[in-house]
Amino acid sequence: MDPPDGLPIDADRCLELSGERFGALLARVGRRLGAYLDTLESQPAWHPDGGDEAARAVAGAPLPEGAADVEQALDLLFERLVPTGFQTAGPGYLAFIPGGGLPEAAVADLISGVLNRYVGVWAAAPGLAQLETTVVRWFCDLMGYPPTSGGFLTPGGSLANWSAVVTARRCRLGDETAGGVLYASDQAHHSVVKAALLAGFAPEQVRRVPSDDAFRMRVDALTEAIATDRAAGLRPFLVCATAGTTNTGAVDDLNAVADVALTDGLWLHIDAAYGGFFTLTERGTTALAGIERADSVTLDPHKGLFLPYGTGCLLTRDLADLRRTHSIAADYMPAMQDGQERVDFCEISPELSRDCRGLRVWLPIVLHGIGPFRENLDEKLDLARWAADALGAVEGIELVAAPQLSLLAFRIAGEGEDTERLNRALLERVNARRRFYITPTILGGRFTLRICVLSFRTHFERVRECVEAVVEETAALLKQRPAP
Ligand SMILES: Cc1ncc(COP(=O)(O)O)c(C=O)c1O
Repeated sequence: MDPPDGLPIDADRCLELSGERFGALLARVGRRLGAYLDTLESQPAWHPDGGDEAARAVAGAPLPEGAADVEQALDLLFERLVPTGFQTAGPGYLAFIPGGGLPEAAVADLISGVLNRYVGVWAAAPGLAQLETTVVRWFCDLMGYPPTSGGFLTPGGSLANWSAVVTARRCRLGDETAGGVLYASDQAHHSVVKAALLAGFAPEQVRRVPSDDAFRMRVDALTEAIATDRAAGLRPFLVCATAGTTNTGAVDDLNAVADVALTDGLWLHIDAAYGGFFTLTERGTTALAGIERADSVTLDPHKGLFLPYGTGCLLTRDLADLRRTHSIAADYMPAMQDGQERVDFCEISPELSRDCRGLRVWLPIVLHGIGPFRENLDEKLDLARWAADALGAVEGIELVAAPQLSLLAFRIAGEGEDTERLNRALLERVNARRRFYITPTILGGRFTLRICVLSFRTHFERVRECVEAVVEETAALLKQRPAP
């Protein structure tokens, strides 16, 4: 049969890259990325200038009809777009909660992108889907979860928290959300509140429980709030504890919160996006005692496992809870598996088509073994402890939050507007060196600086340099302070 008019026999196949051309493209990209990796140590920790210019270089670009030159496209990317903003991959990134960026995970992404296998349904790629189930099982074991547990990888902690709230809602409130109330401390991450709103709750259905002097949820206040709400005819259904807050790294008393949840019949979710992987260390296991009692746990492998952004995880003690929440049948779908081991991710999570996230977790772990991850996390605990001791010993500096994990908060001591101004100036001066990037927060109504050590590329020399900068700039600023 001849093709109909207008349909060419020799169709344009330029989208079908040959192995050779693919290798050549990779070689070009590999050279750029290699240079990037090799200069990370000396690159500025942040680039405050040039953001607008970089954005303008691509903003409003017309949809190109023809092909661009590869080198020109890579020049635009690597020379104009990449060097702006925060250098989140470098050793000087001590801001917020640092992410990782292990290159082995990027190689895994390359593999899964080229393979382009479908992992939303087990039967479509049993081996690759199983990789994700396997890494999830490792994480469940790490949390001390029973064999009934399970979970899935998410694009991050925010979406894991959202799925946790949705699952708690389904399992504890059924179809009726009216009167439902959920509890999280005033230090909980804002994604928990966002999750509640996205799950259909009104702001007044979210209680922010006050925290104590160590920034941990006050369990007495939690108990009281639940009792008050019950007496008012409301339906308390979920408490979210935090294992490593973003402000100070505080870990709630997980056992005490679990006791309350058990007594009052609430779902216990633990947001361990930052702190969860410290359970690889002895100190972390002690700090997070009780995590195994949670109904669900959020982890962020792109934080404590040093993976690239876009890797989160939600675990539940009982995989059946995820299935009950997410499973919806459709005529065009293939038969689903049942049982614990063979998981169809579309049945236990909100997504259908999705990337092969298991591979980006699995490959770095099998290539290194878990030992270096544990050692790195132990080192970060030591570095934060060292920095806190060093800063706490300096006259004029107040340690506001000692590290419970690898995060500390401090400020120039004192009250009043002058001290606020000095602290803002301290932040500016330290960051102006561009060797580190640290970010502030407000604690007890006061402007406070924080250092979070979590990047696998951050070691003693850089933390010492940062502490020395804080000490020098504090001394300079205190000289300017008017005598009392
Ligand atoms: C404690 C905590 N929970 C949740 C999140 C949100 O995670 P993600 O940024 O991966 O969405 C963060 C982010 O830093 C966090 O620190």
